[in-house]
Amino acid sequence: MKKIGYGVVGLGMGMTHLDLAASNPNVGYVAYCDINEERMARAAANHPDAVPYREFDEMIKDEKIDIVSIALPTGMHAEFTIKALEAGKHVLCEKPIDINVERGLAVEEARIRTGKKVGLIFQNRNNAVIREAKKNIEAGKLGKLILGTFAVKWHRTQAYYDAGGWRGTWAMDGGGSLMNQSVHTVDLMQYLMGDVESVQGHYTVANHAIETEDLSTSVIKFKNGALATFVSTTCCNPEGGTLIQVYGADGTIEINGDVLQKWKTNDSTPESEAEMLAKYATGNAALVAADPTLAVGHKSQIDDMIDAVINDRDPQVGPMEGIKAVRIINAVYESSRTGKVIYFD
Ligand SMILES: NC(=O)c1ccc[n+]([C@@H]2O[C@H](COP(=O)([O-])OP(=O)(O)OC[C@H]3O[C@@H](n4cnc5c(N)ncnc54)[C@H](O)[C@@H]3O)[C@@H](O)[C@H]2O)c1
Repeated sequence: MKKIGYGVVGLGMGMTHLDLAASNPNVGYVAYCDINEERMARAAANHPDAVPYREFDEMIKDEKIDIVSIALPTGMHAEFTIKALEAGKHVLCEKPIDINVERGLAVEEARIRTGKKVGLIFQNRNNAVIREAKKNIEAGKLGKLILGTFAVKWHRTQAYYDAGGWRGTWAMDGGGSLMNQSVHTVDLMQYLMGDVESVQGHYTVANHAIETEDLSTSVIKFKNGALATFVSTTCCNPEGGTLIQVYGADGTIEINGDVLQKWKTNDSTPESEAEMLAKYATGNAALVAADPTLAVGHKSQIDDMIDAVINDRDPQVGPMEGIKAVRIINAVYESSRTGKVIYFD
């Protein structure tokens, strides 16, 4: 079987893509690209056999490359993804797909036009406890969904925002705590609770010198009648966790990050609930230590993308899935600016 050629652009988060692609047994050729010489030197030290590029346009001409990971600032995602697709490459793009829905749709249009594959990183969907929650909610084990409470209460320093020059800008980050840090949890909210009917929100710049928000609160109404609240911030010091809490007429699931905190379904018993809590008490790391074949984190999606290309199937998360969270986030921003409830089709 022909081995896959893999290129990575953007060596911040992309360094992880490079390490994981290089360690996949089906990858036989690796290239990387950045404009930051210190990062290029680090990649060269860790991957002496990989091919360095200083120009993205040159890397995508490399005929040995099948898949390109895009790990650039968010506002560059759609443009660089489309360039790579038009050069005949499959693309695995970092979250979020870009800063708005229109650019996400442009990626989808290019995917269809070129016949290439596009995967989007939302690695938290593969947290072991999220897989369990999704399976049980879909099977109706919480009964009718009633309420979700979601909160991403994180901390980021001013130095974090100042590094790179793109974070906390509308043009390149597309937002702040909600678009950058919370997009994973916004995605999980709609993944677990269903299609959104309307969004009402507020945002503010509470405690950083940035253009975008560092605090937002919103109320989301779902087409199935459930309601949710969502809090995002990078101002909580010390941090207050990543709360994913879903309540149905017949059950409750409360998660903090990748750790289960409460579990009750319509077929659970005190014994099975205790078993679930014990199994998911310490998150992915302990579960992977017990079963190294468990697919979690970036590894799960990079391996999935490579397998999707080899077996000519869709990757786990495509552009249309990726657009959903961006649409919700931009509705929070629009609602805050206009004072209106934003209704979805
Ligand atoms: N999935 C996750 O959990 C996760 C975590 C962190 C970041 N991300 C995403 O990854 C993306 C990058 O974030 P980051 O924190 O790594 O940012 P970063 O600023 O650390 O890295 C971006 C890199 O892109 C390089 N770059 C910029 N323009 C370039 C160009 N024209 N050609 C080549 N290289 C160029 C920069 O030099 C830099 O090294 C963002 O979209 C972010 O949302 C995802």
